[in-house]
Amino acid sequence: MIRPDAPVLLDIRDLQAAVEDQPILKGVNLTIRAGEIHAVMGRNGSGKSTLSKVLAGHPAYTVTGGRVLYKGENLLEFDPEQRACIGLFLGFQYPVEIPGVSNLEFLRVATNARRAEQGFEELDTFAFEDLVRERLAVVQMDPAFLERSVNEGFSGGEKKRNEILQMALLEPLVAILDETDSGLDIDALRIVAGGVNQLASPDNATLLITHYQRLLDLITPDHVHVMAAGRILRSGGKELALELERTGYDWVDQELDRLAAGGQEAGRTPVEVG
Ligand SMILES: Nc1ncnc2c1ncn2[C@@H]1O[C@H](COP(=O)(O)OP(=O)(O)OP(=O)(O)O)[C@@H](O)[C@H]1O
Ligand SMILES: [Mg+2]
Repeated sequence: MIRPDAPVLLDIRDLQAAVEDQPILKGVNLTIRAGEIHAVMGRNGSGKSTLSKVLAGHPAYTVTGGRVLYKGENLLEFDPEQRACIGLFLGFQYPVEIPGVSNLEFLRVATNARRAEQGFEELDTFAFEDLVRERLAVVQMDPAFLERSVNEGFSGGEKKRNEILQMALLEPLVAILDETDSGLDIDALRIVAGGVNQLASPDNATLLITHYQRLLDLITPDHVHVMAAGRILRSGGKELALELERTGYDWVDQELDRLAAGGQEAGRTPVEVG
């Protein structure tokens, strides 16, 4: 839902980031308002997961330029745990297994940390079990998964569903879902998409990273962005994703060449390449 006057939840300006001194993000600009659903697409290796991990505060990535405001505050000053507590959620492309840590207990600790930040009371084991059973319904997940270690031995699709269960419990303000559709069977894709739609509200925002229109058939994005070589190269409405299905990414190289030429010879007509 696009409302031009809705509050800006996430404002990313010229964000640059490196891993082991190698620049990956090279000036990302993105503004996300309350109520909006954004999709980020782009070739393998274009920097989509890096963007999500930089936003979540992953220690392997160094921010080398630009800024990120979350509800007007400098997000980059918060450590990863604080970012989660204030309502930023990242559903990982490759969810990590945490052997020896009960999924139920992990979810309870995370939920209570988020609730404390929101000014809500802490939930004891019994109250939390009630809540978690209610939220399990959002992803139609078997309660047996609560008794196992976090993601340990979960199938690919089960891990993705568990990420959405976390999201349903944490009630984030900005949810970034990195390829949540990958590895899901057809029914699971519908269930997960239904869960994401159910959790979306006029007060929060969702950033979907995906390769495929099949997810966007189920979750309609307000804005679609194409990442290439560490920046957002093109943005549009939901029709941009449909266009990509037809055209692929061949145009990306031309546009990158054009940008490079424009950067070096500002003011001159970019040379047609290819
Ligand atoms: N920790 C790291 N060490 C070395 N290189 C990295 C690291 N993280 C990311 N990169 C590199 O940064 C580039 C962008 O990676 P990223 O995972 O963000 O791509 P992506 O757009 O998510 O791709 P995909 O669609 O395949 O998931 C890649 O070339 C990748 O190899
Ligand atoms: Mg990725």
